[in-house]
Amino acid sequence: MDAQNQPAPNADVVLSARSLRKEFRGFVAVGGVDLDIRRGSIHALIGPNGAGKTTVFNLLTKFLVPTSGKILLDGVEVTDEHPAALARLGLVRSFQISAVFPHLTVSENVAVALQRSALSPFKFWQGRSKFGNMAPHIDGLLAQVDLVDFRDRRAGDLSYGRKRALELATTLAADPKVMLLDEPTQGLGHEDVDRVTALIKQVAVGRTVVMVEHNMKMVAQIADRISVLRRGEIIAEGPYDEVSRNPEVIQSYLGSRTRAGEAKR
Ligand SMILES: Nc1ncnc2c1ncn2[C@@H]1O[C@H](COP(=O)(O)OP(=O)(O)OP(=O)(O)O)[C@@H](O)[C@H]1O
Ligand SMILES: [Mg+2]
Repeated sequence: MDAQNQPAPNADVVLSARSLRKEFRGFVAVGGVDLDIRRGSIHALIGPNGAGKTTVFNLLTKFLVPTSGKILLDGVEVTDEHPAALARLGLVRSFQISAVFPHLTVSENVAVALQRSALSPFKFWQGRSKFGNMAPHIDGLLAQVDLVDFRDRRAGDLSYGRKRALELATTLAADPKVMLLDEPTQGLGHEDVDRVTALIKQVAVGRTVVMVEHNMKMVAQIADRISVLRRGEIIAEGPYDEVSRNPEVIQSYLGSRTRAGEAKR
């Protein structure tokens, strides 16, 4: 306990949920979830369809208001903060693919994201070159997701995998401490899954990533820790090897479409 009689925040934990609960007209979608996301880790949230993954994700990013429970960022309660305030504190949710502006170029999309970011010193595009003083920053972000060669392409003409990479770059524009990704490999073919998996691993250096993901192979490859949700409750948590051997986890996956450890899609 510290001087204010509050429990001292655990420096290893960046984001926590305590007894997080969400009811929809009496239906309990999330029933008292406790989560501790370790700083610098990639943490995956998995579970069968309807388990409550997206609901937890929306609660953590404040797109849904919890019925009860608390959310803490760096030990500070943020349960009542708005999504924009959380973004300023470093908790940033990946934009959905539809938020990539298809008629703008790749560079222009990143420029828009940089201008939107609360921390951005770039208030307007200035200078003689098209992006003024933003140009080096834009190229730096594109380099992180291997899109430099595509900077002048229309975003709408990119493959799904590269659109996802662009989405990552626009998320990185806010320089997030914690990045939340909702099904980053959804709808991608094998090659693109591998590319996006490698990119997430790459951009996760020095950050924390929380992702909802159905692709078990991907989760096994890059997640440091996994929380398994079933019917709104966490039934297992730990590294992949441990969680995938848990009889309850295997059981709940047999109850849906696959065995634990197999790609669901
Ligand atoms: N806005 C809502 N109103 C009513 N019920 C909802 C709402 N959102 C989710 N639910 C219900 O809450 C439960 C959890 O849904 P959620 O979308 O969080 O599951 P999920 O684990 O993301 O599933 P999936 O793998 O299919 O994406 C489901 O039974 C769903 O029908
Ligand atoms: Mg979902």
